[in-house]
Amino acid sequence: MTRSRQPAEPYRIKSVEPIRLLPEKERLERINHANYNIFKLDARDIYIDLLTDSGTTAMSAKQWGALMVGDETYAGAKSFRKFEHTVRKITGKRHIIPCHQGRSAENMMFSTAVKPGQYVLNNTHFDTTRGNTLHKGGIPVDIPCQEMRSNDPLPFKGNMDVMKLEEIIGQKGRENVAMVIMTVTNNSVGGQPVSMANIRETSELCKKLAIPFYFDCARFAENAFFIKRDEEGYQHKSIQEIVLEMFSYCDGAMMSAKKDGLANIGGFIALDDKELYAKLTELLILLEGFPTYGGLAGRDLEVLSIGLEEVMDYDYLDFRIDQVAYFGEKIKAAGIPIVEPTGGHAVFADAGALLPHIPADQFPGQALTVAFYTQGCVRVVELGSLMFGGTDPNTGKKFTATRELVRMALPRRVYTNSHLDYIAEVAGKIVADKDSLAGYRITHQPVFLRHFTCDMEPLQPVNQTAEKSNS
Ligand code: F0G
Repeated sequence: MTRSRQPAEPYRIKSVEPIRLLPEKERLERINHANYNIFKLDARDIYIDLLTDSGTTAMSAKQWGALMVGDETYAGAKSFRKFEHTVRKITGKRHIIPCHQGRSAENMMFSTAVKPGQYVLNNTHFDTTRGNTLHKGGIPVDIPCQEMRSNDPLPFKGNMDVMKLEEIIGQKGRENVAMVIMTVTNNSVGGQPVSMANIRETSELCKKLAIPFYFDCARFAENAFFIKRDEEGYQHKSIQEIVLEMFSYCDGAMMSAKKDGLANIGGFIALDDKELYAKLTELLILLEGFPTYGGLAGRDLEVLSIGLEEVMDYDYLDFRIDQVAYFGEKIKAAGIPIVEPTGGHAVFADAGALLPHIPADQFPGQALTVAFYTQGCVRVVELGSLMFGGTDPNTGKKFTATRELVRMALPRRVYTNSHLDYIAEVAGKIVADKDSLAGYRITHQPVFLRHFTCDMEPLQPVNQTAEKSNS
């Protein structure tokens, strides 16, 4: 069932940025010029951009105000002390290392704590976490829960399969496991949350086996909201209490603060281990900067201190999670199948189910992604065989992804429900003409992470599709 509307935003708008809906003819020219790769489009040619929720947040009046009080002192800045105090309060950890974004935290952590040949076990690695593990000679293994494979709208599909985790540690030998990581929320399986029970169980196992247990906590507040809403025993606890309990089970955390830091840049590592802290700090000075700024300006640290508090506001989170759900309902009602339930930061459309006439090696997700741009000037991103498929360098065999998805990530506090209603209308137009959508062929690709820079061409002219849908 769909609702006619979602509750209104718990904020009002003080500053605006114009966006422009390009005429259809120009959209066709732009996408053709970009060789059908949406990463190559210019932001000014996009009306609504759902490429990512990372670094795209709108800051609050309080954050804008704080920019002026940023202390830009090299060592011992006041802004760092404020940031350190906030992160300590939220995580309960003693040592706080600032850095410029999530992947720099990963780089430092894995350079220090992962030896070549060791395993890193995760409920599901995000691409950069996987990439950084591999880069240091580590072996990343994903251990998502079984429910994740189900189409039923079950809660906590982001969980770790703890039995399998124990089995894998048994097989590999505990000394060969560098660390266990819990990604909250689990971005790569649809922004699905992890339950407190699952965090606790994983933590107990790691403690028993003396394996370090870390969080990749880019969306910790969204995760806490799901625990409060859906896990027994947490309805009467505050988000702050739930967050503190979550962090109490881990040895430390790496965070891309470009998400739940409600900021455009930033990250950190928080931990109690004094020796590891000392090693990480050495690397921090080499790679990022002095330990009291870590690659960030004093004003960024001010903004983060406020953002990390604001993100735990119940009304904000209630609206945010419901906005994603509302958008999911609208997209589904327009006829595009989605991954259910919707998670914390994005709606994942199932392009494989929508476009069964396009085989995986012709990228149905790419066809849907281009259609959103040509039909609506909306940018979304393929998360299917273009991103996860390729050619095995050892065997030369081509492989495809397990699912052909398209992610529509919602930047925080940026778009209103009218924007989302507009996208749902575009989705309806695409569905009405879906049989005319055709697949794609890659004409040029790099060796790694091909989706960012490859060139493509449609197997049937795209403008025919657009003209037909207009008639
Ligand atoms: N961990 C998770 C769970 C993430 O989602 C991301 C980034 C990172 C680490 C890396 O952080 O970008 O600050 O270096 N996710 C973005 C996304 C890019 O679009 O989902 P970063």
